[in-house]
Amino acid sequence: MAEYDYDVLIIGAGPGGYVAAIRAAQLGLKTACAESRDTLGGTCLNVGCIPSKAMLHASEYFDAASNGTMEHMGIEVKPKLNIDKLHGQRIEAVDGLTKGIEFLFKKNKVDWKKGHATFQDAHTVKVGDETVTAREIVIATGSSVTPLKGIEVDNSKHIVVDSTGALELPKVPKKMVVIGGGVIGLELGSVWRRLGAEVIVVEFLDKLLPGMDDDVRKEAAKIFKKQGMELRLSTKVTGCTVKGKKATLTLEPSSGGDEETLEADCVLVSIGRIPNTDGLGLDAIGLETNARGQIEVDHEFRTAVDGVRAIGDVVPGPMLAHKAEDEGIAVAEWIAGETGIVNHDVIPSVVYTWPEIAGVGLTTEQAIEKMGDKSKVKVGKFPMMANSRAKTNHEPDGFVKVIAEAESDRVLGVWAIASVAGTMIAEAAVAMEFGATSEDIAYTCHAHPTHAEATKEAAMAVQGKAIHV
Ligand code: FAD
Ligand code: NAI
Repeated sequence: MAEYDYDVLIIGAGPGGYVAAIRAAQLGLKTACAESRDTLGGTCLNVGCIPSKAMLHASEYFDAASNGTMEHMGIEVKPKLNIDKLHGQRIEAVDGLTKGIEFLFKKNKVDWKKGHATFQDAHTVKVGDETVTAREIVIATGSSVTPLKGIEVDNSKHIVVDSTGALELPKVPKKMVVIGGGVIGLELGSVWRRLGAEVIVVEFLDKLLPGMDDDVRKEAAKIFKKQGMELRLSTKVTGCTVKGKKATLTLEPSSGGDEETLEADCVLVSIGRIPNTDGLGLDAIGLETNARGQIEVDHEFRTAVDGVRAIGDVVPGPMLAHKAEDEGIAVAEWIAGETGIVNHDVIPSVVYTWPEIAGVGLTTEQAIEKMGDKSKVKVGKFPMMANSRAKTNHEPDGFVKVIAEAESDRVLGVWAIASVAGTMIAEAAVAMEFGATSEDIAYTCHAHPTHAEATKEAAMAVQGKAIHV
């Protein structure tokens, strides 16, 4: 008789957990996955990446039909919004994909333990009424919305909402205030602006999108303003009251100063996410979290407790689905006695606005800091305006920027604002993974006419040899 019920038990069936479970099963390990939600797929499939992209995609068409873009191309339509259908296609996408994971669990013989999991000891977890033991346990419990002190989110009332509530608004708010000019604020703010809301973004810092290249942050602000978003930078929200169907926010400059009020029909709180460890019973195994509430792990995703590993949003690093997935594959490979690799220096990030904003590797500022001097870094930049495909498609905004180490020419980072920047950035990630120089990209033949040619030209610009500018 086996010592444990399972070789591996994964807690959480988000992109980290479900991928880890499938890979573990593929590697011949007897695997179970505990998930408390009614459907598999975690934040990403249920209330994150997938439903937000469904809303972004549909609202992009609506915007193109209403803002003159289609008319300019000779297509004259007067769009009429059917919000129930709009939500219907979002729900359909989520349903299809979450059921797909259920199918994959069955196909790979992963047992889904339904319910909230709590540690009893390092090899034993209680899931609902059931006790499950495993040789190795992987924590993949993800993250939740960071609350803002003094502001109470109630998604059911559709007035003060978090990202989940903002995906499900039953009608377009007249005026929406977004607290936090990060990824969620800009993506979901864009959805409702395109559908007709007046959108005001209140951001604590003096620029949007912390963590991204400075040039990108400045250009993004220009583009969002041009699209009609109002940006209130260096501003903090100090309170919020709800009366009837309206919210009144109090704001003041981030550094302190005169208070003002702002009324809104809807307020989206999107100031970040925090790791999920509450109710997990970490005390029972003596596992502590760091100052940011994350579980620290080594490169094999081992925590400080033998037999317990952790991956995804609950561990340090960017809170991104593809990072969680890659860690899911790697942790399963380590458990199976193989070598699992995740290169945390090459994790692309994409903001799915219009145009998209994407980057991989170091920002210019980080590169200069790392190399110790500006002269040790070379930058090549190419505007989308000069890219024939973007120009033909009436997509003039944005640029591609390639950052390379001056001496070796090795690419340190690539940043892009372009309609398909999210797809373009994959090339940069592959190049960096192979240790490419900017010259390697510049001398690689890119199909014409494609947006990707802008990446080639930005790489050529590192040598001062771009053709089309
Ligand atoms: P999660 O996906 O959060 O999954 C964890 C799961 O664990 C949850 O289902 C939870 O119910 C379950 N769980 C927690 N505790 C327990 C317990 N004790 N017992 C049982 N089950 C438990 N990332 C991208 O890369 N691209 C995007 O476009 C993108 N868009 C996003 C849009 C929004 C609106 C949001 C909120 C997030 C978005 N993200 C995106 C981030 C992405 O969703 C997360 O990085 C990703 O889901 C993290 O995966 P995970 O497996 O670590 O955790
Ligand atoms: P975020 O960290 O991207 O942005 C939060 C913003 O709120 C920051 O700009 C911050 O300065 C600001 N802020 C913090 N406190 C504030 C305050 N009191 N008042 C005003 N502004 C304040 O967090 P966000 O947008 O909530 O997203 C959470 C995470 O979810 C992201 O970091 C990302 O990892 C993930 N995500 C990824 C997406 C993608 O990959 N396309 C899409 C959506 C979410």
